[in-house]
Amino acid sequence: MKATVLIEKDHATASAAAADIIASALVENPELTATFAAGDTPFACYAQLIARQQRGELQLGRTRYIGLDEWVGLGPKDTGSCIETMQRGYYGPAGVPDANIAYYDGRAADPQQEALRMAELLANTGGLDLAVLGVGVNGHIGFNEPGPEAAGDFAVVPLSDTTQTVGKKYFGGRATPTQGATLTLQALRGAARVVVLATGAAKQPVVSALLAGNRTLPLAAFCEHPGAYYILDSQSAGQA
Ligand code: F6R
Repeated sequence: MKATVLIEKDHATASAAAADIIASALVENPELTATFAAGDTPFACYAQLIARQQRGELQLGRTRYIGLDEWVGLGPKDTGSCIETMQRGYYGPAGVPDANIAYYDGRAADPQQEALRMAELLANTGGLDLAVLGVGVNGHIGFNEPGPEAAGDFAVVPLSDTTQTVGKKYFGGRATPTQGATLTLQALRGAARVVVLATGAAKQPVVSALLAGNRTLPLAAFCEHPGAYYILDSQSAGQA
């Protein structure tokens, strides 16, 4: 394992540890290219970044953000879409100008063409410097589900039954789309720094598998990445 594994006490301390690593990357270069996950896990970390900005310790608005993933069929005005969640919970409160946010539009007429546009956009920025990621209960990263890896840098993929079932929590219990669009593991591995945040008992089965040496789950994609951090808490690491 070349990546660093940090096991923190709980979600709050794990979020603080993640914020420290992200803040140091952003202080070094506020204009880097980053992708930040939506989902429930990272928002406590994002709140800490926003608080640090308010204290004048860093700038969040000069970074170029590339949306990690999206539900195919949902656009920026749809509640629960990844871009809407990020606007509400991070880009808006952090004051990130629209010009610095690129995202996959899940309502685009041609989903494959839209994925190609995102891949080209990523290539034109020179790839990712920083990736901040959550982990699905099935070990997915972004919408990279267990199984064969998607090719290219941005892909439209079928969503697993688990992801569709768990994903209802973002939509008030309503059914989710059946396809996702995502930066691929290949694109994410290209980031100089990767922060994977996995906390809580629901993640314990996949995190335990990772710690026991399982290298088949998408979650394990960064084990040999020297710039990667797996930030866990005692519950996800099975030490609670
Ligand atoms: C969301 C994303 C997903 C989530 C994962 C964990 O943009 O990329 O991979 O990070 O499903 O979701 P939570 O944090 O809600 O448990």
